[in-house]
Amino acid sequence: MSDITPDNPRHVPVLLERTVELLAPALAGTDRVLVDATLGLGGHAEAFLERFPELVLVGLDRDPEALRLSAERLARFGDRVRLVHTVYDGIRGALDGLGIARVAGILFDLGVSSMQLDETDRGFAYSRDAPLDMRMDPGSPLTAARILADYDEAALRRIFTQYGEERLASRYARRIVERRVAAPSRPPRNSSRCSSRPPPPPCSASAPGTPRSACSRRCASR
Ligand SMILES: C[S@@+](CC[C@H](N)C(=O)[O-])C[C@H]1O[C@@H](n2cnc3c(N)ncnc32)[C@H](O)[C@@H]1O
Repeated sequence: MSDITPDNPRHVPVLLERTVELLAPALAGTDRVLVDATLGLGGHAEAFLERFPELVLVGLDRDPEALRLSAERLARFGDRVRLVHTVYDGIRGALDGLGIARVAGILFDLGVSSMQLDETDRGFAYSRDAPLDMRMDPGSPLTAARILADYDEAALRRIFTQYGEERLASRYARRIVERRVAAPSRPPRNSSRCSSRPPPPPCSASAPGTPRSACSRRCASR
């Protein structure tokens, strides 16, 4: 159960001041609409609403729990806040639905939120033993566990290579399929290990050129 509340949002937005500074020229004035396409826990949104008292903010997120918590956090801004449950590809549809024809800016703060990482049940945290879920929208049918259970080796390799920039993609894809054959009834969990080989060296400042996404996802696929 989440201990996040509007007073204890726990996700601290990065580059908040710089983001406000960069968008400020577009937002000063009347009739300005800002789309926060990845609302999360509403940290950026709150700062913009405070800084620009006439601003209307449209907040989108695919995670209904993020929208619920942000709605509480931003309630004091009344009808200056409009929240829509959608992926950011759905910006146009969301704006059409709200009758908004023109916006002054769009903010994308891409990635996962701390809330998604911290909640064990969401299955994002590699450090905790939990079903491998990883859905940003728990209403969508496809879990990470399903992918590991169903996708063939080539498809897994492509995911690790393309989205994870993982140099050990082939090894991990092969081990996952081998493990599936050896233990077909054991659903994958976050703590599962597919490799008995020593892990690759940790990512650090001493490993220049290692993509950040590879650092963060390596444990999940090992
Ligand atoms: C880094 S967090 C945003 C944090 C936010 N700026 C704040 O201050 O709290 C990223 C958010 O984007 C959402 N998200 C990820 N992919 C998305 C997509 N395709 N469409 C809409 N939201 C998405 C996640 O659910 C998450 O809540």
